[in-house]
Amino acid sequence: MVKAAVLGASGGIGQQPLSLLCKISPLIDELTLFDVVNTPGVAADLSHISSVAKITGHVAAKGDFAGKTQETEDAKKAALTGVDIAIIPAGVPRKPGMTRDDLFKTNAGIVQGLIEAIAKYSPDAYILVISNPVNSTVPIAAEVLTKAGVFNPKKLFGVTTLDVVRAETFVGEISGAKEPAKTTIPVVGGHSGSTIVPLFSQAKPAVDIPADKLDALVNRVQFGGDEVVKAKDGAGSATLSMAYAGFRFAEALLKAKKGEKNVVEPAFVYLPGVPGGEEIQKATGVDYFSVPIELGPNGVEKAINILPKANDYEKKLLDEAIKGLKGNIESGVNFVKSPPS
Ligand code: NAD
Ligand code: LMR
Repeated sequence: MVKAAVLGASGGIGQQPLSLLCKISPLIDELTLFDVVNTPGVAADLSHISSVAKITGHVAAKGDFAGKTQETEDAKKAALTGVDIAIIPAGVPRKPGMTRDDLFKTNAGIVQGLIEAIAKYSPDAYILVISNPVNSTVPIAAEVLTKAGVFNPKKLFGVTTLDVVRAETFVGEISGAKEPAKTTIPVVGGHSGSTIVPLFSQAKPAVDIPADKLDALVNRVQFGGDEVVKAKDGAGSATLSMAYAGFRFAEALLKAKKGEKNVVEPAFVYLPGVPGGEEIQKATGVDYFSVPIELGPNGVEKAINILPKANDYEKKLLDEAIKGLKGNIESGVNFVKSPPS
């Protein structure tokens, strides 16, 4: 019996694409949706699909965007009690000209509030953070859970799967592979600009990227999000590809929970708290990093250190990524430890 919750379920990612994928998944028996608007409608609509999952919608009190009323608290309690996996795409998306860090001011508080509710009502759940800036919202989540005394680093994931999906797709365009997703391309680091590091040298099966195409390919993976933001022209950022990616990660986790072996997907995790993480923390000097994660019934089975195998070109990218990540992580940690007045 698996119960899943989508928090931010009425938005571009949450509504049709992610909640729909969850509703039709045979791996999910019960699905709850929470948002500050519109969830009863989304849930009513999805409930007519003749798939396994039973679905309910829970909405905050009208206008209670700060989530302070008893009615909102009751809705969070109803949405989260007994949940095994909570997926969080709540928060504002970018508009052209913005960086993901520009979202921090609004999304930091949204993620903090939702994680506080998870800490209260479903402290054992796997938590998948999609809300940007992931490099900071995951540290916020970890600090909130620590404060509540329920932090299990093996169950907290920043979802970076979209970077992997983009790398597979863009490499496929060069290689001509019929099924791009069958080439495993590790993407490590964080989830914004230069903190995203595709390690093409470790693709399996190996890929041959012409030297004159490498810089542009790396840049396209790092700034793929901007491509979508620009094309949507003010109407938000990636939603459909993100729902695919978020569900792909959730599905991997649920398969591993059921006992499937050798399930590996990169994710942004708290290194000191997961097996294999300490060695990566020492090598990078940061507490959070996305690396391939072997998943098991308890979440992270092992963080796999593939960094020593990076070539010289990739090592330079890794140095840049680490520089950017340090500030992003610090902002998240400080937001909870020394809250802005
Ligand atoms: P959106 O504005 O369409 O939807 C966000 C939803 O969150 C809205 O329905 C809103 O009502 C809801 N929300 C706001 N405050 C809330 C709260 N306190 N509790 C519950 N719900 C709340 O945005 P979107 O396009 O769905 O994107 C959502 C987030 O995902 C953004 O921060 C975006 O940058 C991020 N994102 C991340 C990735 C990634 O790879 N990790 C990819 C794409 C988008
Ligand atoms: C993405 O990578 O598409 C998301 O992080 C959304 C964005 O702001 O680019």
